[in-house]
Order: sequence, then C-alpha cells, then structure tokens
Amino acid sequence: MFKTSLFILFVVTMNAARAVTTKNLTAITWSHATNSQKLLNEVLASDINFIEADIVYGYLINDTERILLPIMAHPPANESDISLKSFLTQIWAFNDARSSAQQKGVKLDFKSTDVFQVSLDILREMWNDNYEIWINADVYSGPLENTATQPVNATIFFQESKKFANATLSSGWTTRWGPDFTVGSYTTEQVTNMINGIKNNQVSNPITFPVRAGIAAQSIESLSFLYESLNSTNYVTFTIWSSQNDSVNVENLRKMIFHFGLDKIYIDVPEDLHNQLRLDDPPNGTSSIFKSFGLGLMLVLGAIIMMF
Ligand SMILES: *[C@@H]1O[C@H](CO)[C@@H](O)[C@H](O)[C@H]1NC(C)=O
Ligand SMILES: *[C@@H]1O[C@H](CO)[C@@H](O)[C@H](O)[C@H]1NC(C)=O
Ligand SMILES: *[C@@H]1O[C@H](CO)[C@@H](O)[C@H](O)[C@H]1NC(C)=O
Ligand SMILES: *[C@@H]1O[C@H](CO)[C@@H](O)[C@H](O)[C@H]1NC(C)=O
Ligand SMILES: *[C@@H]1O[C@H](CO)[C@@H](O)[C@H](O)[C@H]1NC(C)=O
Ligand SMILES: *[C@@H]1O[C@H](CO)[C@@H](O)[C@H](O)[C@H]1NC(C)=O
Ligand SMILES: *[C@@H]1O[C@H](CO)[C@@H](O)[C@H](O)[C@H]1NC(C)=O
Ligand SMILES: *[C@@H]1O[C@H](CO)[C@@H](O)[C@H](O)[C@H]1NC(C)=O
Repeated sequence: MFKTSLFILFVVTMNAARAVTTKNLTAITWSHATNSQKLLNEVLASDINFIEADIVYGYLINDTERILLPIMAHPPANESDISLKSFLTQIWAFNDARSSAQQKGVKLDFKSTDVFQVSLDILREMWNDNYEIWINADVYSGPLENTATQPVNATIFFQESKKFANATLSSGWTTRWGPDFTVGSYTTEQVTNMINGIKNNQVSNPITFPVRAGIAAQSIESLSFLYESLNSTNYVTFTIWSSQNDSVNVENLRKMIFHFGLDKIYIDVPEDLHNQLRLDDPPNGTSSIFKSFGLGLMLVLGAIIMMF
C-alpha cells in the first residue's frame, strides 16, 4: 500500500507540475525573429514571455576571418551581430537574476540540418533544465507542396533533441502560403509522417506542433488525428504562427483554437490577426472551461488513496 501511495503521489506530483503549464496558453506573449542584439535588448527589457529566434550557419558581421558558426539570423541572411552562444548566454544571465515567473522562455528555430548539428555542443554545454527551452525545426515538407525549403532531417532532429529530456520539441512542416492562398490543409499523409517520425524515434518529450494559421484553420480533422495519435505518449500542444498578411479565415481559426482549447494552443501571430481572434469570446457550441477534469479526478483520487 505504501508503494502504491508513493506511486500515486508521484503521478499526482507530476500532474501538478504539469498543471503549472496547463493554463491559458494563449495568454503567453511572444517575440518573433529576435535575430539581432538590438531586438534581443528590446525583448529583454519588455514583458514578453517567450523569445522566438532563428539559427543559421553563418558569420558574425565584421569577422574578417570569416569563421562559420551558429548565428541568429533567418535565411537567406547569413550574417548577424549575435551568435547562438552569446544569445543564450545573455538570456541565461537575465533569467538567473530573476524569479521563475519573471524568466523568459526560448524557442530556437534551427533552419538547416547542418546548423542544428553544429549547435548541439553549444546546447549541451549551456543547457539549463530550469529554463523553458524549445527546440524547433521544420522536419517534413508540408502544404502546399513546398519544395523551395529543404526540411531538417527528421531522424537527426528527433534523435538528438530528445536527449534534452526537459526540452519541448517543436517539430513542424515547411509551408508555402501567403496573402494569395485560400485553400490548403495539413494532409493526412503529412501528419502521418510526423506521427511515424515521433513514434519510430521513441520521443517522449513534450511536443508542440507549429502550424501556420491560414492552413491550420482548414485542418481541424487531420490535426485532431495527430493529437489523438500522440496524446497518450506525449504532452501535445499546438503553436499557431502566421506571417504578416497571410490569408486566414478567422472564424475557422477560432473554431480550431476552441476545438482544442486554450490550454492546448500557443498563439504567436501578428497583432492585427491576434486582435481578430476574440479569445475571450468562445464560439457557440464550445465549452470555454479547460479540459482538465482528468487532472482534477487524479488529484482527488490521489488524495483519497493517500488517506489510507
Ligand atoms: C551569404 O549571403 C550573401 C548575400 O546573399 C551571398 O552573396 C553569399 O554567397 C552568402 N555566403 C554563403 C557562404 O552562403
Ligand atoms: C562593424 O563595422 C562597422 C564599420 O566599422 C561598425 O560601424 C559596426 O559597429 C561594426 N559592427 C559590429 C557588430 O561590430
Ligand atoms: C528535467 O528532467 C528530469 C529527468 O527527465 C527531471 O527529473 C527534472 O525534474 C526535470 N527538471 C525540470 C525543471 O523540469
Ligand atoms: C536523415 O539522416 C539519417 C541518419 O543520418 C539518414 O539515414 C537518412 O537517410 C536521412 N534522411 C534524409 C531524408 O535525408
Ligand atoms: C487523447 O485524446 C482523446 C480525444 O481527445 C481522448 O479521448 C483521450 O482520453 C486522450 N487520452 C489521453 C491519455 O489524454
Ligand atoms: C503587408 O501589407 C502591408 C499593407 O499592404 C504592406 O505595407 C507590408 O509590406 C506587407 N508585409 C509583408 C511582410 O508582406
Ligand atoms: C486567455 O487569454 C486570452 C489572451 O490573453 C484572453 O483574451 C482570454 O480571455 C483568456 N481566456 C481565459 C478563459 O482565460
Ligand atoms: C450564441 O448563443 C446565444 C445564446 O444562445 C445567442 O443569443 C447568440 O445569438 C448566439 N450567437 C451566434 C453567433 O450564433
């Protein structure tokens, strides 16, 4: 009985820890493409919760020796005034000096297999389990037959990033979309590639799927399949992102967001789109309360069993 109680205490504790993040994820605020010293300074001085930035293999501006290293930049740029190492060093220094509620999370978007691989030593050297760190890459090609961007090798991505047990893996699809697109969805095949990649590589990390707003709005069915295929083995969420001026069916996107619930969706979209989402106003027919009855039940059950 003692052992059982301990086990249940463990489960309850794990779920209680999880409950800290089982909240209104849409309230979390983001910086986007924080790829220069100036932008990093601005974000560190702001209230923003999560810092999103891109990593490419390139050069530091003014480095006359032209040494290739992981830098903060978005393709096609291959120069920056800040390296990955300096970027993390500065954020850790900021976080070290603050309470956990004031610390900032980091989402690292690796733009190629090469830069991901050469960054691993830096990540290992600098890893800090106390901070929220997401490792992101587009690992499969996605809508609409995007051939312009080469995805990061999924096997390498999953095998290497899963070694950071506390990392949230943010694995996505390359996309082709914009103001002139109206029809497109994440297909069953694209979603199945992702499920197989995660299962075959035995990934147990928390996973968030970055999905492009205009396309996600038309993909409730395939994304539900994705969610249901993995939610027994992984803590699964989605991160909705959008480029400036992307075409988005706002009502459909609202349906998608409220279908999964505000405790399952991070929202990193431009302000004008964000303002249209009316997150305080669920569409009719959806429940605004969080789907955390399971957690409540587990806590109550745990408490009862603990009394014996
Ligand atoms: C870096 O970008 C510049 C400008 O686009 C380009 O001319 C140059 O070839 C690139 N260098 C490398 C090594 O990719
Ligand atoms: C690069 O060199 C230019 C010209 O000398 C200078 O203005 C700039 O501040 C330098 N940038 C960095 C990041 O050192
Ligand atoms: C990190 O993961 C380890 C083992 O996977 C766990 O014991 C530890 O509590 C985690 N740390 C945080 C801050 O979540
Ligand atoms: C990804 O990398 C693995 C391991 O190096 C390799 O076996 C596989 O062929 C690569 N896949 C692709 C699509 O390049
Ligand atoms: C996974 O999701 C499905 C559908 O939402 C739900 O029925 C099931 O209970 C979930 N499983 C877990 C372990 O959360
Ligand atoms: C978005 O549209 C506005 C207004 O038409 C334009 O000024 C801006 O450059 C566009 N942004 C992008 C990234 O296309
Ligand atoms: C969740 O957060 C969003 C954005 O801050 C807010 O508009 C919405 O009212 C919140 N909903 C709940 C149920 O807390
Ligand atoms: C939502 O339901 C309320 C109450 O049932 C109703 O008054 C309102 O018109 C409905 N709104 C929409 C957009 O259907």
